[in-house]
Amino acid sequence: MNEIDFTDCPRVPARAYSGANGKKVAVSFENAVWLLKFPPSAAEKPNDLSYSNSSLSEHLGSTIYRRLGIDAQETRLGIHRNGKTKIVCACRDFTVPGKRLLDFCSIKNSVLDGESGGTGTELAEVLDAIQGQQFLDPSIVLNRFWEMFVVDAFLGNFDRHNGNWGFLVDDATGQVSLAPVYDCGSCLLPQADETIMRKVLESEAELDARIYTFPNSMLKQNGRKIVYHDFLKTADDPNLKSALARLLPCIHALDIPALISETPYLTDLQRDFYTRYLTARREKVFAS
Ligand SMILES: Nc1ncnc2c1ncn2[C@@H]1O[C@H](COP(=O)(O)OP(=O)(O)OP(=O)(O)O)[C@@H](O)[C@H]1O
Ligand SMILES: [Mg+2]
Repeated sequence: MNEIDFTDCPRVPARAYSGANGKKVAVSFENAVWLLKFPPSAAEKPNDLSYSNSSLSEHLGSTIYRRLGIDAQETRLGIHRNGKTKIVCACRDFTVPGKRLLDFCSIKNSVLDGESGGTGTELAEVLDAIQGQQFLDPSIVLNRFWEMFVVDAFLGNFDRHNGNWGFLVDDATGQVSLAPVYDCGSCLLPQADETIMRKVLESEAELDARIYTFPNSMLKQNGRKIVYHDFLKTADDPNLKSALARLLPCIHALDIPALISETPYLTDLQRDFYTRYLTARREKVFAS
């Protein structure tokens, strides 16, 4: 198993990351800069998040994106010891060297014709902003946007807000490109503890609730979060249809048991849970 201890990796000076879900540090590992993402602690998320598998979600989500042929951050799972030993997800920093991330929130803010601000996730306004922005050919952006929608539907991602995708700018050349997909920490029920995993494995109704009722998309229609399965059933956007036509064969061809068996740190229960949940999602979320 490919286990890594990141504890003694040197910190990279003058580099830090924002985000509401857990601590992050920049470290040097194998001659590259990596963002170590720690699972959020109960103190940081006082509501109901006393438990989080977000490191596993980050790694599995990003790996699945890559296996489906979509450019996504490279990730490695490892441990970090600081009093407690935690499982962390190392995400290779794709801004090194010399690139700057321009997230879609700031891009949407720059479109003066739009009604809502950068953070608004009403689908029609996001699509308008994709057409109205002047950084990249809208057809390239639309393509990525709907590919992300399809894969996030498969993975049950409930947090693809406008800060969680974007463009890369090379200030030296002025060149702009799509950023690799990042922040997959809210895929695959990161808050499911052992009790929930057992329930999902033992009861079809418990499984179905976590496919048809929650998690939902961050995108909204008429102010309400899009329910993945309902939306896909009646999908009529041509760009969504072509993303589905491209990706569904790859999703169905994905060797889920092999992916799970090569993932380190998983307990037997987690192996069973991720295999069942991913297999069920690909059957049910996309069923008409
Ligand atoms: N692989 C990466 N390379 C470079 N920068 C990254 C990478 N992943 C994330 N970032 C930057 O770090 C920020 C925080 O990371 P991330 O979005 O993964 O954290 P989070 O706490 O889960 O965020 P959120 O508030 O969306 O829950 C991102 O908004 C982005 O600016
Ligand atoms: Mg984020």
